[in-house]
Amino acid sequence: MSDLPPEIDTGRPHPARVYDALIGGTNNFAADRETVARVLQKSPNARIAPRENRAFLGRAVRFLTAEAGLRQFLDIGTGLPTANSVHEVAQAIEPSSRAVYVDNDPLVLVHARALLTSDPRGRTAYIQADARDPEAILTAPAALELLDFSQPVGLLLVGLLHLLADADKPAEIVATLVGALPSGSYLVASHLTTEHDRERTAAGQAVMRDAGITMQKRDSDVFAAMAFTGLELVPPGVVLVSEWRPTGDSPRPAPAEVNIYGGVARKPLCAVPNLRHETASV
Ligand SMILES: C[S@@+](CC[C@H](N)C(=O)[O-])C[C@H]1O[C@@H](n2cnc3c(N)ncnc32)[C@H](O)[C@@H]1O
Repeated sequence: MSDLPPEIDTGRPHPARVYDALIGGTNNFAADRETVARVLQKSPNARIAPRENRAFLGRAVRFLTAEAGLRQFLDIGTGLPTANSVHEVAQAIEPSSRAVYVDNDPLVLVHARALLTSDPRGRTAYIQADARDPEAILTAPAALELLDFSQPVGLLLVGLLHLLADADKPAEIVATLVGALPSGSYLVASHLTTEHDRERTAAGQAVMRDAGITMQKRDSDVFAAMAFTGLELVPPGVVLVSEWRPTGDSPRPAPAEVNIYGGVARKPLCAVPNLRHETASV
C-alpha cells in the first residue's frame, strides 16, 4: 500500500498487524511477518490461539444479540477488518444492531471503511483512540451519537487486556468502561494466558516484547479478577475460549494449544465497583 499516512511505521511490528498475519490476513508488512515467524519458531501452535479467539468473539456476539437481546456494541481493540466483524455477526441476527469500533493502530483507520459497511437499518462508527484513555472513548462524538448509554451495551475487550501492562492499570480501565454502562450491559473479554504451557508461551511473548510490543503475562485467575469482579458471569464462566459454548462436534484443541481464556458477564442491577485489585495501595 503506497498511500499510507506517515504515522504508520511499517518498519516496526504492531499488534494488530501481527495478529492479522497470524490469522492469515493480508493487512500486514514484512516486519510483522518476521515477528510471526520468530513466534512460530518458539511456539509452533501460535496460530491456533487467535483462530480460537476469533471464533469465541463470534459466538459471544451471537449470544449477546440472540439470547441477551443487545442491539449496541462497543468493540475496543477491534483489529484489522476480517470476516465476521462484530456488526456483521450482530446484524445477521438483528439488522438494526449498532457497533462502535475503537483501535489505536492508524492502519485500522485506513481499513475502517470495511468496518463501516453497515446494514442500512443499523449503524457502525470507528474511533481511533487508546484504551488507556477510556474517558476519551466514552466521550468521543461517534460513541455519544451511536450508543444510547441508557440502554444495555455489549462491551468487547477481546484479545486486548494482555496488551496492557500492569502499569496501565487495566482493571481500572475496565471499571471505568463498565461503570459508564447501564445495568444489563455485558462485558466480553479474553486474555492470553500462560498456565497451560509456561515455557513456550513465555518464549513467544519474549519475541513480541523484543519486537517492541507490550505483552503482559497473566494467569487466568488474575485475568478473571481484573475483568469480571463485580459482574455476573454467564455459564460456563471464565474458560479457555475454545470451551466457551462451542458449537459442532469437531474435536477442540488441547489447552496448551489455545492459551487464551475468555468470558462473558452481565452488569447486575447493583454493580459493585470493580476497583479492588488496583486500589489496595491508594
Ligand atoms: C490481538 S488484536 C484483537 C483483535 C480482535 N479484538 C479479536 O479479538 O479478534 C488486539 C487489537 O488491540 C489493539 N490495541 C492494542 N493496544 C491498544 C490500546 N492501548 N488501545 C486501543 N487498541 C489497542 C491492537 O491494535 C489490535 O488491533
